[in-house]
Amino acid sequence: MPSRPSKLVCIGAGYVGGPTMAVIADRCPDVQVTVLDLNASRIAAWNGEALPIFEPGLPEIVRRARGRNLRFLTQDEGMAALAEADMVFISVQTPTKTTGEGAGKASDLQYVEACARLIAAQARGHTIVVEKSTMPVRAAERIQQILSANTSGATFAVLSNPEFLAEGTAIRDLERPDRVLIGGQDAAAIQALRSIYAAWVPAERILTTGLWSAELSKLAANAFLAQRVSSINSLSALCERTGAEVSEVATVIGSDSRIGPKFLQASVGFGGSCFQKDLLSLVYLCEHHGLPEVAAYWQSVVDVNEWQKRRFAEAVQQAAVNRRIAVLGLAFKKDTNDFRETPALAVCRTLLQSGFEVVAYDPRVEVGRFAAELGAPAGFSSASTAAQALAGAGAVAVLTEWDEFRQLDWSQARLAAGAVILDGRNIVDRAAVRRAGHRLHVIGAGLT
Ligand code: UDX
Ligand code: UDX
Repeated sequence: MPSRPSKLVCIGAGYVGGPTMAVIADRCPDVQVTVLDLNASRIAAWNGEALPIFEPGLPEIVRRARGRNLRFLTQDEGMAALAEADMVFISVQTPTKTTGEGAGKASDLQYVEACARLIAAQARGHTIVVEKSTMPVRAAERIQQILSANTSGATFAVLSNPEFLAEGTAIRDLERPDRVLIGGQDAAAIQALRSIYAAWVPAERILTTGLWSAELSKLAANAFLAQRVSSINSLSALCERTGAEVSEVATVIGSDSRIGPKFLQASVGFGGSCFQKDLLSLVYLCEHHGLPEVAAYWQSVVDVNEWQKRRFAEAVQQAAVNRRIAVLGLAFKKDTNDFRETPALAVCRTLLQSGFEVVAYDPRVEVGRFAAELGAPAGFSSASTAAQALAGAGAVAVLTEWDEFRQLDWSQARLAAGAVILDGRNIVDRAAVRRAGHRLHVIGAGLT
């Protein structure tokens, strides 16, 4: 096998696999990159004009590389590519298990294991298998076991290469990463993967570790980031009781170079497909390895987040002057259409269960899919503009920090008389709300 792989395959064309492979193809025009997915409509979207995920900068890159050295195929169409691949990335979901041992905490590896079985069946010659998905520590052992059960005579090396991109900034994160992490034991395989990233990532930013350290580092990095959000969110409640303002406290804390300013933005709670899943996976691992105190520590980060979402939903209910609530923002953060584990799901559920009517607006989320996730309740409807959602509302819940919501013209909002705006992201223009004569409740600052 050449030291620099020339044929890459990625299984999983999601929020991680799609952008990552697009950037690799863009930066390594001599490498053939094939992205596979079981979901045919997702593949059709990757091959069309409207990509299946909204990510700033992504369409330009896909347009440049697609048809040159980047292609998207359904899994069925991709068997020949899999057989020929030098390197196969596994980038499928690893959600929290819902049944069986570890249900509610452990990561479900069934999709990853299915990929390993597929690779074992199709591979010819020597293939490097790269875990891109976030895995529990020692998951590579299981992949190795499955691969070694193949009967075709193919040989394998397994690496862990967890992806640190954040949605909304994925392209910047991929093009200028703080670090790329490669974990493994096989020096030639590590060198092969390193040679891909070396096309654009400075050598000192490509870190190599053992397999288990790489797997655990990704869980730990997400746990640390989530822990910062829960820490500041816990203080947001104390600020509301005492008259301190959490954004001021965060600025002061963050100006200590030992702490740093990032991930100190108080919010209605963290969401997304990773933080909660990875925290719970870490909790499960600690319990499994007989470390209940460590498990309890990380569980508390999840608990504070659940409490923060509940606390915000209760504040909305108490503030509302009628039964109609406008929800602005469904995505779990700005600049993505992703609503997995978004705080908006928890807030809407609580409001609907209490008999409120919710009218939601988000600039990118497909509200029909969001409604389906809620179970299509009668009290939930969507608006095509923010102004439409606000009309007649007895309270407004701002749940995503979209730039559009920073610039809202509150003097034009046709809210119910006495309506309260509850800002779960601290982005609403306070002076504009005051001028318009509305009341504003800001997370971590109380009524302003
Ligand atoms: C997910 C997790 O969120 C992340 O924590 C993990 O590190 C990687 O997997 P993401 O790309 O966001 O990342 O997931 P998702 O958007 O659900 O994409 C996964 C894709 O894999 C889906 O399109 C799914 O159809 C596909 N898939 C799944 C396959 O192609 N084959 C399978 O066997 C299973
Ligand atoms: C995260 C990690 O940042 C990334 O490195 C990893 O690869 C995947 O998980 P992501 O979930 O896409 O990325 O977004 P992130 O920017 O981390 O935000 C996660 C959640 O925390 C969002 O709901 C966001 O609104 C919230 N958050 C973040 C806060 O509430 N306050 C903050 O200060 C930062």
